[in-house]
Amino acid sequence: MSTVSLNDKIPNNVDLSSDKRLQRALEQWQPGFLAWWKEMGPDGFQACDTYLRTAISVDAGGWAHFDYVKMPDYRWGIFLADPDDERKIGFGDHLGDPVWNEVPGEYRNPLRRLIVTQGDTEPASVEQQRQLGKTCPSLYDLRNLFQVNVEEGRHLWAMVYLLHTYFGRDGREEAEALLQRRSGNPDKPRILEAFNEPIEDWLSFFMFTTFTDRDGKFQLLSLAESAFDPLARTCRFMLTEEAHHMFVGQTGVGRVVQRTAELLRGGQDPRANGAIPLDMLQRYLNFWYTVSLDLFGSEVSTNGASYFAGGLKARPKEERFADHRLLDGAARVELFEDGRIVAREVQPRLAVNLATRKAYQEDCQAALDKWNKLVAVHGFEFRLPSERFHRSVGTFAGLFFDPEGRAISDAEFHRRAPEFLPSEADQAYVRSLMAKPVSAPGTFANWIAPPARGINGRPEDFEYVRWNEA
Ligand SMILES: [Fe+2]
Ligand SMILES: [Fe+2]
Repeated sequence: MSTVSLNDKIPNNVDLSSDKRLQRALEQWQPGFLAWWKEMGPDGFQACDTYLRTAISVDAGGWAHFDYVKMPDYRWGIFLADPDDERKIGFGDHLGDPVWNEVPGEYRNPLRRLIVTQGDTEPASVEQQRQLGKTCPSLYDLRNLFQVNVEEGRHLWAMVYLLHTYFGRDGREEAEALLQRRSGNPDKPRILEAFNEPIEDWLSFFMFTTFTDRDGKFQLLSLAESAFDPLARTCRFMLTEEAHHMFVGQTGVGRVVQRTAELLRGGQDPRANGAIPLDMLQRYLNFWYTVSLDLFGSEVSTNGASYFAGGLKARPKEERFADHRLLDGAARVELFEDGRIVAREVQPRLAVNLATRKAYQEDCQAALDKWNKLVAVHGFEFRLPSERFHRSVGTFAGLFFDPEGRAISDAEFHRRAPEFLPSEADQAYVRSLMAKPVSAPGTFANWIAPPARGINGRPEDFEYVRWNEA
């Protein structure tokens, strides 16, 4: 088991103090990170005591410690899952070779690109969510938002550690650039589109943590298989934090659905009672699910194939599959060619993105199944829209399909858009419900049901954030 240095300036389990140059470089990056956090982290809550968990060890049993912390004092650290000295490469052209502890020259650029792209999403989501605290539905939810935010900040540290340690000067420059880009800024946007979309209301936040953070989970699962062992170990530990983000999203939407279902059961109109109608929830789902599908890239991808061939990035839980080389056989892919949808067979490595996306879609469906249990008696069913609908990446990008996947004209799509996606009126309604924060311990906004239980065994009415200091 690795030792965790908690009292270092940068908490870590990578024996940072044994590499003075690296330690100095990271300590020089740290003030820039803190300046970024203060400028772009949760607006107006930096001085509040917040009941947060902090990583103190990486073993499954007890890595988390809960206490009141002011967010700028959160102990952002560098934690890697413990190494497995016997670990072998599990896929691609180097199948069966020992994993790498250094970056092979031929893979330097693609590995750096993968790490930078992952790293960029972490601060981006903090920026997207920075105004949400002011409209929180409860202190419990506010605390969960801040927990997600500080952990995304830690994920940035995880990627910056790899850049500084293994990629020399280029890596240091990339680490600096991660603090310079800004979500939604036209001049210096974040790299991936879903991370430039504004998150201005809590429904969008819960949808984002359900669908977009779940993309993160599947990217991390794919990178956790990497032949570059420090990346694999970093991602393994990040996944333990990511599980909480999935929980926040899934139970968040679930509680909104529950509140609406309660009103329906009593024969009341959700909208007249300040809750969110089910069809409106479906439109938010349609939006966030489809922008998240775009994050998996094109159905047929030479980049995906070369990442797989090189051993850089696998399919999630690669051991579930029988064939880890993917040199034989064919994968079936639906493509849009010459104005129509055709089924094509492609070399299976070219369809690795699709395999990852499929695992993601199954996981999303499992989230919907839970919500559907709450509304089945009302004859409603949440559905994942067709992967042809509302796409900006891949074979269906820019084309017009309805959520069932039927081709429709441009004019029909625009006419029916308010049926498919959150309209201006939907957004105005949702925001109107959240005009004021709910900040008394144990009270909840009218549009959301209380949670089944509190955090870390604390009661629902625990003061998760000391609001008075805001
Ligand atoms: Fe993250
Ligand atoms: Fe996350």
